[in-house]
Amino acid sequence: MSDESRAEVDALASAARGEEFVDDVKTAASAAAEEESQTAPGALDEDDDRAKPQRDADSGAGDGQTPIFFLDDIHVTFKTRTGSLFHPNRVHAVNGLTLRLMPGETIGIVGESGCGKSTTANVICGLQKPTSGHVYFKGEDVTNRTAAERRKIGRVISVVFQDPATALNARMTIHDQLLDPMRVHNVGDKDSREKRIHELIGMVGLPGSVLGALPGQLSGGQRQRVAIARALALNPDAIIADEPTSALDVSVRAQILNLLMDLKRDLNLAMVFISHDIQTVRYISDRIIVMNAGRAVETGTPEQIFEHPQDDYTRLLLGAAPSLLHPDMGKRSA
Ligand SMILES: Nc1ncnc2c1ncn2[C@@H]1O[C@H](COP(=O)(O)OP(=O)(O)OP(=O)(O)O)[C@@H](O)[C@H]1O
Ligand SMILES: [Mg+2]
Repeated sequence: MSDESRAEVDALASAARGEEFVDDVKTAASAAAEEESQTAPGALDEDDDRAKPQRDADSGAGDGQTPIFFLDDIHVTFKTRTGSLFHPNRVHAVNGLTLRLMPGETIGIVGESGCGKSTTANVICGLQKPTSGHVYFKGEDVTNRTAAERRKIGRVISVVFQDPATALNARMTIHDQLLDPMRVHNVGDKDSREKRIHELIGMVGLPGSVLGALPGQLSGGQRQRVAIARALALNPDAIIADEPTSALDVSVRAQILNLLMDLKRDLNLAMVFISHDIQTVRYISDRIIVMNAGRAVETGTPEQIFEHPQDDYTRLLLGAAPSLLHPDMGKRSA
């Protein structure tokens, strides 16, 4: 992300009102990291066409690094309730998608409702088995993952959902929600877990006093911060964020986006950021994948996508509705 776009989002965040705790997780270390920040390796890779499987078959990006995950020619088909009993109609939710995430890289997946974004996220985190194709996790084929593999992947890849209510248990205190992943994965002892809980809540810009609260006592933005803290509990390598800001009040969206950007830089997190808003994706991504009807129709850096869109559908998205982040943002590229 350039300093300029960062400053723009900062300006939006500071203009935003309506949440009590403003995130400012920026530290001296993070400022230093910002100076060193560079485009993630593989940022210019194209990942969408049919000739792909061969080129990608080595799962490498050419610089010797192993991708955190690699989706190889994934198809996901769902049967629908329409059609006859023996010939039900089918929806091709994902249609030949090849995609990989390198350490520290942020991929933005953008496309209209129903284009297969969440199905892709579900394939990555193992909630959905592909109809065909392979899923590799750190070079290992985990397409038919076992419970043990799923646990291992769960420690490395966390998910942040659109609605924090899905991620949080309404009857558990914030403290216990943050403790839960460490308990389930048997990480640390009592003292180190307690320390980590306080660290996590600070990382997402909330005061320790919220630890005793229930999710219902917090605002939507604060709940999403807790969901993010929970996703970070096991110190993952990557986060899959599926529309993490779209259920939130417009005034809070820029703050949550900023928080995610600060965290990914400070913790060197890789991220898959999913949104139907191309302007939101622009600010956070090293590489953008434009999806339409289950396919990646275009891949490129934000500059390439915004300055020289190649596909008609990308142009359509660029000219479409103004940004959800800020109503004026879309006008520039329309
Ligand atoms: N479990 C399912 N059974 C049948 N069809 C499904 C199922 N899950 C998704 N679909 C269909 O697959 C297609 C892709 O859905 P998906 O949820 O991945 O889209 P999306 O891009 O995440 O959309 P949105 O922006 O609305 O979240 C849609 O047509 C959807 O109706
Ligand atoms: Mg979705």
